Amino acid sequence: MHIPTLADLERMARQAGQILYDGYETNHQVDFKGEIDLVTEIDHASEAYIIGEIQLHYPEHSILAEESGSLEGNDGHLWIIDPIDGTVNYAHGVPMFCVSIAYAYQGKVTLGAVYDPMRNELFTAERGKGAWLNGRPLKVAQATELKRSLLVTGFPYDLWSTKQDNMTNFEKLAKMSQGVRRLGSAALDLCYVGAGRFDGYWELSVKAWDVAAAGLVAEEAGAKVTNARGEASYLGLPQSILGANPILHEKIMAELTV
Ligand code: IPD
Ligand code: CA
Ligand code: CA
Repeated sequence: MHIPTLADLERMARQAGQILYDGYETNHQVDFKGEIDLVTEIDHASEAYIIGEIQLHYPEHSILAEESGSLEGNDGHLWIIDPIDGTVNYAHGVPMFCVSIAYAYQGKVTLGAVYDPMRNELFTAERGKGAWLNGRPLKVAQATELKRSLLVTGFPYDLWSTKQDNMTNFEKLAKMSQGVRRLGSAALDLCYVGAGRFDGYWELSVKAWDVAAAGLVAEEAGAKVTNARGEASYLGLPQSILGANPILHEKIMAELTV
């Protein structure tokens, strides 16, 4: 069966990113999936473009996409797509969002591309080969102490009702580190760990499409990426995430209440 290359993902991520760029700060049709969980017509346009490309070139592959759900195909080849990661930012005209495309071969993500069209930053990774930002190799930051670290996190869409609201962790780690940022795009948060911009990232409730591509970017840049309990599988249930260099990873995990 036809297997994609990183160049194929890069091309799709850039093209989809162009759709986001062209639609940025236009009047959006906003629909609500939950009280604060929204989707715009540009999420749908980006996803339709990516799915169309996959179905054209890899008609037998399976797809998991945020807005369309699961499209069943050959189990060994799975694409995991977030057409806009950072939709709330996007809908408000805040320039912090991206497109995320991952390809998994026989259950393991082997290729990932995350594209931020506002900064023209393309984060890519290939399992066993490395991670790159616009072609430049990435390496995770080396801080080993929380007080020398800049961290980032996010909060779930059921924040108003869940007990797992991450507020205790946020307060605790904010007072032990140089700060805890909240950018609003899980994929960029994790790519920024890979790029050494942030020292660590955690979140208690994510979906596979938020972190499949960026998780590979961070791992290939030298980060340890697990769920928030330290278990290796961060794409399956229970879905949470923690990424940092291996020493800092331990230290963040020790402080988290999951
Ligand atoms: C969300 C963003 C946000 C994170 C949420 C995600 P969306 O994805 O990545 O930063 O905190 O957990 O669901 O809805 O913008 O694709
Ligand atoms: Ca997302
Ligand atoms: Ca999304």
